[in-house]
Amino acid sequence: MNKYTILVTGGAGYIGSIATELLIKEGYNVVIIDDLSTGYKEVLFETIPFYNSNIGNTTTLKKIFTEHTIDLVFHIAGAALVEESMKNPMKYYDINFSQGLTLLDTMLQFNINKIVFSSTCAVYGIPKTEAIPIKEETITKPVNTYGESKLLFENALKWYKKNCNLDFIALRYFNVAGASQTRCENHNPETHLIPLVIKAIRDTNYKLQIFGNDYPTKDGTAIRDYIHVVDLINAHLKAIGALIENKPHQSFYNIGYGHGYSVLEIINTIKQVTKNNVQYIFANRRDGDPPILIADSKKIQNELGWKPQYDNINTIIDSVVRLTH
Ligand SMILES: NC(=O)c1ccc[n+]([C@@H]2O[C@H](COP(=O)([O-])OP(=O)(O)OC[C@H]3O[C@@H](n4cnc5c(N)ncnc54)[C@H](O)[C@@H]3O)[C@@H](O)[C@H]2O)c1
Repeated sequence: MNKYTILVTGGAGYIGSIATELLIKEGYNVVIIDDLSTGYKEVLFETIPFYNSNIGNTTTLKKIFTEHTIDLVFHIAGAALVEESMKNPMKYYDINFSQGLTLLDTMLQFNINKIVFSSTCAVYGIPKTEAIPIKEETITKPVNTYGESKLLFENALKWYKKNCNLDFIALRYFNVAGASQTRCENHNPETHLIPLVIKAIRDTNYKLQIFGNDYPTKDGTAIRDYIHVVDLINAHLKAIGALIENKPHQSFYNIGYGHGYSVLEIINTIKQVTKNNVQYIFANRRDGDPPILIADSKKIQNELGWKPQYDNINTIIDSVVRLTH
């Protein structure tokens, strides 16, 4: 058995629960903190200690760090709805930045100084066409409060590393998709394409909207880099290795496959996989939605030896359909 203990913030959410599942499989001890604001009790694991609290609560954090010897934190908890972030910026600065700082400060009080942070391609904003696939050095210029709040925390991590003996890896996720053997994406409200297409198949009253059919792409719809959640968590496992064994590493890594699919391609693949028709309507582009977001992830592959295993859109969609049908 592996002797390290990982605190997973947001362990009752989509990515956090699958991170927990795979950490357990790899023999890590896991502890979870989650305030269940968008997560679900049902996806928690009976054997894993769970603290129902937000990450800005110092009393709970101190209790966790006293009751468990934490070696490293996966900081996955966050608010992640772009539209909401524009209407309620305070919530995003609070959860994704201020509460995160409380977590960092409390970690350091207990000499816990390693953290893997769930960042996002939203820190890049709308990259220039010539900057695609996007490298980590690409200018960061968020176009929404969500991306800005994540970038603020990334910047805080840099200063904590420089001044406070903290070591970190921020993984900039592109479009996370797919399911593990037992857990699947389940946001409320759901804003992600694959679950929405599946919803449109199940519920004929639901009107699937495609935002924009006039993008400069092959079929006019937006292109995204869909990364299988299990490959994403495998990148986290590589990050643990680098941080715990003090291997040389960068602070920021993009996580995607280096190629993308348009909205219509995703819909057509789901139609083929499920043998169902999907009704949709075209709507206007949404503000701040870039035409194409594709990651260049060579850095983490070359430096940390991350090897994607599920780079196949049919495999991603199959994994979701298997759990939701
Ligand atoms: N899903 C994606 O495609 C994607 C892409 C880029 C980045 N991310 C980042 O990954 C992380 C997880 O995303 P997800 O899709 O699993 O979302 P999710 O909503 O399913 O999970 C987030 C979890 O964090 C918990 N949480 C929220 N605020 C909290 C707080 N203040 N204290 C404690 N717990 C809190 C929620 O209850 C939930 O269980 C987020 O930080 C998000 O920004 C996700």
